[in-house]
Amino acid sequence: MNWETLEQQCCSCHRCPLAETRHHVVFGAGPKNTPVLFVGEGPGQQEDLQGEPFVGPAGHLLDDMLSIIDLGRHNCYITNVVKCRPPQNRDPFQSERDACIPFLRGQFQLLRPKLLICLGRIAASSLIHEDYRITREHGQWVERGGVWMTAIYHPSALLRDPARRPEAFRDLLLIREKLQEVCPEFYASQQI
Ligand code: URA
Repeated sequence: MNWETLEQQCCSCHRCPLAETRHHVVFGAGPKNTPVLFVGEGPGQQEDLQGEPFVGPAGHLLDDMLSIIDLGRHNCYITNVVKCRPPQNRDPFQSERDACIPFLRGQFQLLRPKLLICLGRIAASSLIHEDYRITREHGQWVERGGVWMTAIYHPSALLRDPARRPEAFRDLLLIREKLQEVCPEFYASQQI
């Protein structure tokens, strides 16, 4: 499987009912040779209209969060657990997550990231462990097969509840440290 085939398959997918209400499939965006992968929950309204991940209000905050770790959209890959918008931005059903997860697995296998950062509970429970408690476990690292994984509060949660921002800021500093430790050449090359 290559990126092109995976994206074509994803964009013509009808494995779950979200296909009926979507405007665009939001496959993901970013360089295909970056060691850093961010995974959100699913597209919101703006993402559905534009076909790009994190371009609405949560996306603007994500840009600020990326800048805290000296990253930007040009040097990390950003995608979601489900590639089509759940109506009214509800949580994606487990059946929808199950139908869509092969695309994320494919992206993961092609990208082979060294750092995987889950944005919020839905991504963390899909990728780290099923009963992930974001309030308790955010910022903790798990290493699996050479991939370092963590979860931080979803930018939408930080927009709703700014009191969580100091914790998110601390997690971001830990991510920057981990990036320097695990991908020193990548980190250094982005500083020029
Ligand atoms: N929220 C997400 O989880 N993903 C997006 O792409 C936008 C908002």
